[in-house]
Amino acid sequence: MCVGSIFSNKVYGSWGVIQREKYEKTFHELEKLVDIRKIFSGLVLDVGTGFGYFEEFINEVYLKNRSHIKNIKIIAIDKDREMLDNCLSKNLLQANLVQADGNALPFRDEIFNCIVCFDTAHLLNFREGFNEVMRVLKNGGYFLITEPHIEKYDFVFDEIKNYFNLGFSLIKEFVIEGREKEHGLLFRKIGKS
Ligand SMILES: C[S@@+](CC[C@H](N)C(=O)[O-])C[C@H]1O[C@@H](n2cnc3c(N)ncnc32)[C@H](O)[C@@H]1O
Repeated sequence: MCVGSIFSNKVYGSWGVIQREKYEKTFHELEKLVDIRKIFSGLVLDVGTGFGYFEEFINEVYLKNRSHIKNIKIIAIDKDREMLDNCLSKNLLQANLVQADGNALPFRDEIFNCIVCFDTAHLLNFREGFNEVMRVLKNGGYFLITEPHIEKYDFVFDEIKNYFNLGFSLIKEFVIEGREKEHGLLFRKIGKS
């Protein structure tokens, strides 16, 4: 166990229900706008997987109950070994777990169709982390970010919007109402001209 991790089992281990509601609402928002199969297909990177709640959601809701997301393989990274150990005890069928830093990704250029970052963007170094996202995402690929909608995190969205003017187009900005109010952004990589 990683002593001193702020995302300890005690604090974060019971957030599964809240996170699940967040993913449901996020997908509902996205479904209004785009064919969700186009976003969540092929190789998908989850930056800061935590307890693997997103992978459980994809597993249970989409792979088992709904037929329209089938062809998906998630690489779930976290820099904290404790988080990945927790994930290992779950049956995350379609996910590979990798201990890695989101600011220095150990992957080749342009291999992911989609990158998701739930409640983790504020923990990355913007320059390094988003350069890495830009590097490993395919042209035309999607980048989905959610962050708690609280004043403390306003800087995240300002930073992201400024930064992504460079090589991304903002497809959708949305608010997720729930036990935690969240702010979401969906970008698409438009590549270098
Ligand atoms: C608030 S939790 C979010 C968990 C998850 N995305 C979810 O939807 O439940 C943030 C996670 O990001 C991880 N993290 C923080 N900084 C990171 C970094 N630089 N690279 C990779 N993971 C990081 C933490 O260890 C933690 O598990």
